[in-house]
Amino acid sequence: MPKTQQVTPSECPAARVRGVSKFYGSVRAVNDVTFDVASGELLTLLGPSGCGKTTIMRSIAGLERITRGEILLRDRVMSSAAERIHVAPEKRDVGMVFQSYAIWPHMSVFENVAYPLRCRKVAKPEIEVRVREGLRLVEMEDFHDRPATMLSGGQQQRVALARSMVMQPSVLLLDEPLCNLDAKLRAQMRSHIKDLQRKTGLTMVYVTHDQVEAMALSDRIIVMNRGVIEQVGVPEEVYERPQSEFVADFVGAINFFPGTIVEEGGVNGTIRVSTGSEVLACTLDGRVSPAMRDRVLLMIRPEKLTVDDGSGRAPTLLHDSDAPVNSVRARVSSHTYCGDHCELGFEGRDFHLKAMLPSAISPAVGQEAVIAFSARDLHLLPAGAGAVRCGQATASVPEA
Ligand SMILES: Nc1ncnc2c1ncn2[C@@H]1O[C@H](COP(=O)(O)OP(=O)(O)OP(=O)(O)O)[C@@H](O)[C@H]1O
Ligand SMILES: [Mg+2]
Repeated sequence: MPKTQQVTPSECPAARVRGVSKFYGSVRAVNDVTFDVASGELLTLLGPSGCGKTTIMRSIAGLERITRGEILLRDRVMSSAAERIHVAPEKRDVGMVFQSYAIWPHMSVFENVAYPLRCRKVAKPEIEVRVREGLRLVEMEDFHDRPATMLSGGQQQRVALARSMVMQPSVLLLDEPLCNLDAKLRAQMRSHIKDLQRKTGLTMVYVTHDQVEAMALSDRIIVMNRGVIEQVGVPEEVYERPQSEFVADFVGAINFFPGTIVEEGGVNGTIRVSTGSEVLACTLDGRVSPAMRDRVLLMIRPEKLTVDDGSGRAPTLLHDSDAPVNSVRARVSSHTYCGDHCELGFEGRDFHLKAMLPSAISPAVGQEAVIAFSARDLHLLPAGAGAVRCGQATASVPEA
């Protein structure tokens, strides 16, 4: 029987995943993962294909028996490997939308969405209201009597979303629910989901490998790699202060400069790092850690670079008396037009850089330019900073 712990509801996260591992024979799909999901939070699992996102979702839903650890929903243990507890999926009060959206082909759109309510013996008039509201939220109200087989993939996905929402589960698990939608509908559905979560206070765990989607939707993001958590944080933290090379590289484009620290203790925590051909200033948030005594990795996002090709078209970097400005010379090696901006590749003496510039001021391939960036926008990590072990990655619920 599930045991009840002494936790008051206000302190109680909607879901707790503690030291969970799931092995399939020798495959370690998920390895010692710990995180909480706060009530009303939209938490995203972000990571490359095969990193264990679906396995975690299926474990929370009760579709997988975990190898180690435990999973609680509110104060009830749903899975515990040590105590051999495994509550059946239908008893977990969890809704789930899968990558393959699995709607019933022999039912109409209305009946698909109404089905879970009928199973729970909800009164007919209430079913009518909740189904219409669910279909309205996903913009499918005009399709209510259409057979489910006569829908596009994206429409079927929206029906699956409406069906999972009408149950108002205590946790809604969404595993790449927008993967079959076109770019415009995807953006629309993203804001629907976010609005819906704000209005209803529904707790959601969302899975994606699309970092833009994760940034746009999430209260917090868990970045995963090879079955372990690399970092947990609000979107700005994960993007601006990645804790490992993997996170920096996976969440958006980034430039790396490997180097060694050659000077410390400058004004406002500025240090200098030799990269071989250049000495770059970097404003450090904290102290130089012992792990940075050997090699370090400097990182900067492409949109933080300004490029002066001598034409006078480039905006100059605003000089900030608190932070030095670095400038390096490089030649344009590639130029990709992306509509509202251009992506440029640069070759320096011993480095490559990617920059993102407004289309109007992009220099051409072969041109030489001065690339400037503030010491404040450089981020420093010990070289080889790998995954933060799950025990250290504080995945606790943020303060209300
Ligand atoms: N039933 C299974 N038997 C054996 N290995 C499995 C099984 N299910 C998943 N795996 C393996 O576990 C790892 C994690 O799979 P999972 O489906 O959780 O990844 P994912 O992060 O959801 O990937 P994707 O983004 O491609 O959906 C993968 O290496 C996968 O091959
Ligand atoms: Mg998956």
